[in-house]
Amino acid sequence: MGKLDGKTIIITGGGKGQGAAEVRLATHLGAKVVVTDVLDDEGNQVAEETGNVYRSLDVTSPEQWSDVVNSAVSEFGRIDGLVNNAGIFEHGGILDGSVELFKKIVEVNQIGTFLGMSAVAPSMVSQKSGSIVNISSIAGMRGYGAIAYGASKWAVRGMTKAAAKELGSSNIRVNSIHPGAIETDMLFDLGDANVNRLVSNVPMQRSGTPDEVGTTVMFLLSDEASYISGAEIVVDGGLIA
Ligand SMILES: NC(=O)c1ccc[n+]([C@@H]2O[C@H](COP(=O)([O-])OP(=O)(O)OC[C@H]3O[C@@H](n4cnc5c(N)ncnc54)[C@H](O)[C@@H]3O)[C@@H](O)[C@H]2O)c1
Repeated sequence: MGKLDGKTIIITGGGKGQGAAEVRLATHLGAKVVVTDVLDDEGNQVAEETGNVYRSLDVTSPEQWSDVVNSAVSEFGRIDGLVNNAGIFEHGGILDGSVELFKKIVEVNQIGTFLGMSAVAPSMVSQKSGSIVNISSIAGMRGYGAIAYGASKWAVRGMTKAAAKELGSSNIRVNSIHPGAIETDMLFDLGDANVNRLVSNVPMQRSGTPDEVGTTVMFLLSDEASYISGAEIVVDGGLIA
């Protein structure tokens, strides 16, 4: 018996990095996963390897969200969980950023998360259960130089609490996870010098693995977390302690 037995879960950005790790963990725990991404080759490969279905989904598109949710409901009859994992990072502060960059990041990280919650909420409300996990960041817990990324991740944290309040009476739990330095392309793209500097500030003196975030996501998706809603869990080896 897996702790996600019988559950249907949609994971965004499931083609690589943390999303792909979460697809594998959820499958291992008994869930049927709808793997989604804009990277069709990678997403299809993860779905095929784990025996799941793949749907192309750009999280900024309300139409694509509607298609993904409708096909999941008609195929599986219900949606028990959503992991709003897809995200993008780009450098840019007040002096060297631009409004175009700001909008691009907010569109994916913040509006994509809002659209995901809005898309699954009606079926979760009608079945009177559901768990939504929004992937924020430690950049959503404190000031961060890349201002658009930080703003979008603070917004994910705030929207999580708003959604927990709105949807709680329908037995829908909504929580956020705040990863630190996690070993995916998003971290490696910062370059060795930046990664080393970041990791040297981690009390545990190492970066985290996608599975170490993924197991926390699995807990929140499962009935073991049945009274946890509106919470924020930091997974960062003590970095912002
Ligand atoms: N890696 C880290 O150190 C770290 C730290 C804190 C938070 N995060 C957050 O974790 C989440 C997962 O990132 P990751 O570390 O796996 O990085 P990653 O770059 O490996 O994966 C990001 C995924 O999001 C997908 N994606 C990007 N734009 C999309 C869109 N418009 N629609 C659908 N999918 C889209 C990508 O295709 C990719 O599969 C992100 O929300 C990220 O902001 C990462």
